Amino acid sequence: MTAKLKPDWAGEDLLSRLVNVLIQTKPIYALMKQQARQVLIKTAEKNGVPWRQTVQEFEASAVQHRLAAITQPEITYPDYYRVPFHAYDAGNLCWLAAFEAEPATHAMALRIWPDETLTWQTAQARLRASFHEILAAHGPQQVSDILDLGCSVGISALTLHQFYTKQQNRPVQTVGLDLSPYMLAVAQERDINQSIRWVHGKAEQTGFPDQSFDLVTLQFLIHELPRTASRAVFQEVLRVLRPGGCIAIVDNNPKSAVIQKLPAVLFTLMKSTEPWSDDYYTFDVESTLQSVGFSDVKTLESDPRHRTILANKPTSSV
Ligand SMILES: C[S@@+](CC[C@H](N)C(=O)[O-])C[C@H]1O[C@@H](n2cnc3c(N)ncnc32)[C@H](O)[C@@H]1O
Repeated sequence: MTAKLKPDWAGEDLLSRLVNVLIQTKPIYALMKQQARQVLIKTAEKNGVPWRQTVQEFEASAVQHRLAAITQPEITYPDYYRVPFHAYDAGNLCWLAAFEAEPATHAMALRIWPDETLTWQTAQARLRASFHEILAAHGPQQVSDILDLGCSVGISALTLHQFYTKQQNRPVQTVGLDLSPYMLAVAQERDINQSIRWVHGKAEQTGFPDQSFDLVTLQFLIHELPRTASRAVFQEVLRVLRPGGCIAIVDNNPKSAVIQKLPAVLFTLMKSTEPWSDDYYTFDVESTLQSVGFSDVKTLESDPRHRTILANKPTSSV
C-alpha cells in the first residue's frame, strides 16, 4: 500500500479530468470501448481463459429459457445502472455481458499477480481464498444465512457457500442477489447442484425481512455504484443483518500501489468502461459504514489490488 489515498487518474485531479474529456468525446469513446474489449479478450485468451468458447457454449445452451422465470417484472432499474458498463451499451442488462462475465472474472484474477505464471484456475482460487481467509480470521464465527449482493454469474456466491459449508461442516443457506436477470440466468445454469437461491432484486431494497442474515457480502459491487447508492445499500444491509452480523466488502483498493501505477493506456481503458470509477475511488467507505450505524470497521489488504472491509451490526443500540 502507498501513503497516497487514491490514484491520480481518479477523482478531480488534472490527469483524471483529462482522461474524462477523452471519454466524453463520443467518437474517441467509441474507439476506446472497442479497443478495451479487444485488448481484454486477446490478453485473456493468450493466458488460457477460454473466452469466446465460453460465450459459444452459453449461446448453444438452454440458458436463455431461464430468463422469464427469474425476472421480477416489478423491478425498476435505477438510472445509474442503465448506462453503458464494461463496453456493453446495455450495461449488465444483456446476454453478451452475462456470457462474458465468467471469462472476464477469470481474466481479472490473472491481472492481480502479473509477475507470476498462474493458471486462471489458480488465480481465481487465490483471489477467493484471500477474501475467505480474512472472513475466517476476522468475520463471524457462526454463519447460517448468507447473502451475496451483486452476485453476477455466481462465482462469488458459489465459492463463499462452499467455503462455509466446508469450514463449518454443516449446511448453510446462501442467497445470491443481482439486478441483472441475465446474470442470474447464467448463475442458475452454472449452479449444477442448485445449492443457492438466486434472486432478482436491488441491493438497496432487497425485500428480505429484518434480521435475516449473519453475513452479507458485496464482492466487487460498490465500484459499480455511485456513493449515494452504496450508502443506501449499507443501510439496507444493516436492516437485514442479525445483531452481531457482519458486512464484508471486497473491491479495488484505492491505496494499492499496483492500481495507482497502472499504465496510462490501462487506466484510460478501465475508466472508459467503469462509469462510477471517480466516485468510487474518492468515496470514504469506512466512515460511511460508521455513519449508517456499523461498528468495528476494519480494512485489510486482501491481495495486491484489493481491500476487504469488514464491519458489524451492533448487538444492541445505545
Ligand atoms: C462486478 S459484478 C460482481 C461480481 C461478483 N460478485 C464476483 O465477485 O464475481 C457487479 C454486479 O453487481 C450487479 N449490480 C450492480 N448494481 C446493483 C444493485 N443496485 N443491486 C444489485 N446488483 C447490482 C451487477 O448487475 C453485476 O452483476
